[in-house]
Amino acid sequence: MLSEIMQSALNEQIKVEAESSQIYLAMASWAEVKGFEGIATFMFKQSDEERQHMLKLVKYVNQRGGHAVISALEEPRLDYTSFKTLFTQLYRHEVRVSECINILVDISLSEKDYATHNFLQWYVSEQIEEEATARVILDKIDLIGDDKGGLYLFDNDMKNFSATGHNIVQ
Ligand code: FEO
Repeated sequence: MLSEIMQSALNEQIKVEAESSQIYLAMASWAEVKGFEGIATFMFKQSDEERQHMLKLVKYVNQRGGHAVISALEEPRLDYTSFKTLFTQLYRHEVRVSECINILVDISLSEKDYATHNFLQWYVSEQIEEEATARVILDKIDLIGDDKGGLYLFDNDMKNFSATGHNIVQ
């Protein structure tokens, strides 16, 4: 059985993951409209992954005798002025999600909830990967600069990232 504190913290995280899915979806839609097929493919897939992160929490809370709450979400407010701005926001968002996960881990320890502590380790690993992915993408954007040909290759590259899952960090 989850403590009230643990349950409420996990429910907060359900919202964070759902909002992450919306952020990636908003970015996917923007990229699709702008004709960046590769980036759109990558973002749609990331959005689906974030939904899976949310669902995993929903199932866990309910399985532990709690009640997973599905709440209203914040509308993604994104700055689309450049690729760099867009992906910087994505990176910062993932860093914030990692901080949320760390707080959850802290709570699980203070509540002596070792099952939840164990459950959360999957999210700890996932966040390492997601932050690294965002950093690799930002490095690529820095390399390209304003080069139009580079931009085309970058978009193409992003399609392959999607096809190979997290195999982007090479
Ligand atoms: Fe599930 Fe990228 O946070």
